[in-house]
Amino acid sequence: MKRANSTCQISLPDSRFNYRRERNLLRRFLYASFERQINRAYRNRLADRGTTAQGVFWRSETSQIARFDALLSLAHELAPQKPVTIADIGCGYGAMFDFIKTKPAYAQTIYCGVDINAAMVSACQKKHPTEQALFKLGNAPQTTVDFAIFSGTFNLTHCDDPALWMDYIFNSLERCMRKTRYALVLNLLTAPQTKITQQIFYANRAAFIRRAKQQLGPTYARSTKYVSGDVSFVITRPR
Ligand SMILES: C[S@@+](CC[C@H](N)C(=O)[O-])C[C@H]1O[C@@H](n2cnc3c(N)ncnc32)[C@H](O)[C@@H]1O
Repeated sequence: MKRANSTCQISLPDSRFNYRRERNLLRRFLYASFERQINRAYRNRLADRGTTAQGVFWRSETSQIARFDALLSLAHELAPQKPVTIADIGCGYGAMFDFIKTKPAYAQTIYCGVDINAAMVSACQKKHPTEQALFKLGNAPQTTVDFAIFSGTFNLTHCDDPALWMDYIFNSLERCMRKTRYALVLNLLTAPQTKITQQIFYANRAAFIRRAKQQLGPTYARSTKYVSGDVSFVITRPR
């Protein structure tokens, strides 16, 4: 009797532990497979359209730049001191870096770019041969920065389950928050319902804020000027 009880007490937590471990393994496998598909799509697109806004699936350079301006102005408004260190997560071919260089308002920015796509990182390094070290292959800041900024990083997806894609996004955001001093600043396309249509992810603004508050920290949003449906979110690190 005693033996049976003790076996039971030991095996229950074990099975829960195994279940959790298997679920985590499955998620990691799924996320890696999403990233392989995303990588293939961006590599082909870059080969086809080159280092242009269309080369990273933007409709126009105007909307690409309006997004940069919205995200960078939020980071600069929030920064308690200058210069501001930022990591551009999903930097593509480095267009945000070029934009920062042309804008005196953002002169006090220390930039680094990170992308999961090797072709994008080498395009950045080719464009900026004397600043190659600013661009790295990866999915999170390599060293702690004031702000991690994401422009269009989570728009394209080959997943067809919006809830699962949200989990992927939050997994990425959590990882980046560990290397961020003040806030994550990102944009997403929004719609009345969270959905994926033609491989583009649309978040429900209120639902995204609710989850970000619960999982990461105080969050607010601002509609991105000049880009219909696009919203810039700020997720601050709890003090
Ligand atoms: C729509 S493009 C935008 C590129 C750049 N931000 C711009 O606006 O020009 C999205 C980029 O994010 C990268 N990306 C997607 N998921 C990522 C992740 N989890 N971590 C880092 N980069 C990612 C892609 O490889 C692609 O280069």
